[in-house]
Amino acid sequence: MSRRTARPIGIFDSGLGGLTVVRAFHQALPREDIVYLGDTARVPYGTKSPETVIRFACEDALFLERQKVKCVVVACNTASAWALNVLEEQFKVPVFGVIHPGARAAVEKTRNQRIGVIATAATIRSRAYQVAIAELDKKARVYAKACPLLVPLIEEGWTTHRITAEVLRVYLAPLLKEKIDTLILGCTHYPLIKHLIRRIAGPRVVLVDSAESCAELVSQRLAAEGLLQTQQTRPGRIYPYVTDAPEQFEALADRFLGFPIGQAWKVELPALKKR
Ligand code: DGL
Repeated sequence: MSRRTARPIGIFDSGLGGLTVVRAFHQALPREDIVYLGDTARVPYGTKSPETVIRFACEDALFLERQKVKCVVVACNTASAWALNVLEEQFKVPVFGVIHPGARAAVEKTRNQRIGVIATAATIRSRAYQVAIAELDKKARVYAKACPLLVPLIEEGWTTHRITAEVLRVYLAPLLKEKIDTLILGCTHYPLIKHLIRRIAGPRVVLVDSAESCAELVSQRLAAEGLLQTQQTRPGRIYPYVTDAPEQFEALADRFLGFPIGQAWKVELPALKKR
């Protein structure tokens, strides 16, 4: 086993939400160690400008690079939407985002080529999903809707609340009117309300979880490059780092991860120098 193969996978997000991506990776690649960085001091990214999101994402990736990860996964849809190209250019380690895998899965699943996307305002503004889908299928139509109220409602724990259902109904109405048959959940937080989305969208709409699609793609790519852990016999470990309030992160993590995370460590992110 090469030294690179034994290295952990690095995953970063603006905060807690990226733990849904960690969960998908842990399920798909149970023997891989994962270093997770949640930039809890500066969450949310979804309301910020592209320049700010790009700067934050570069600092996050630099932290992970210094942890000697074998690849960096940008769990945050907003950071994937705005910063992936810059990260790919500036870092030697392979960088994966959640937008392209989500777009690919949607194009494969749609039968009427009418695809809906829900995400933060910044992700929708970037048009990243629309561009990625158009590259794969020129004829596909994309109906996108920013849903800025969903992240705070989910963080509040209102994942089964009737108010969240009502807000969702309002957000999804224009997409359902366009007869979408596939809907991309383009935000780290939305897997937590999949049950509500499914109920409102109805059984005919296929839900695409970008986190699961990303885990599948990364596992194929690592396998192709001989970088998958094959000799590890113990389950993969998760090493969580945050930029603020580890206790709060530890207390809420299992909602997103599905099991308790244990101790998280607070870190200062490295300052960016010209690379
Ligand atoms: N992680 C963000 C995303 O997937 C949602 C939370 C935020 O706005 O930072 O877009």
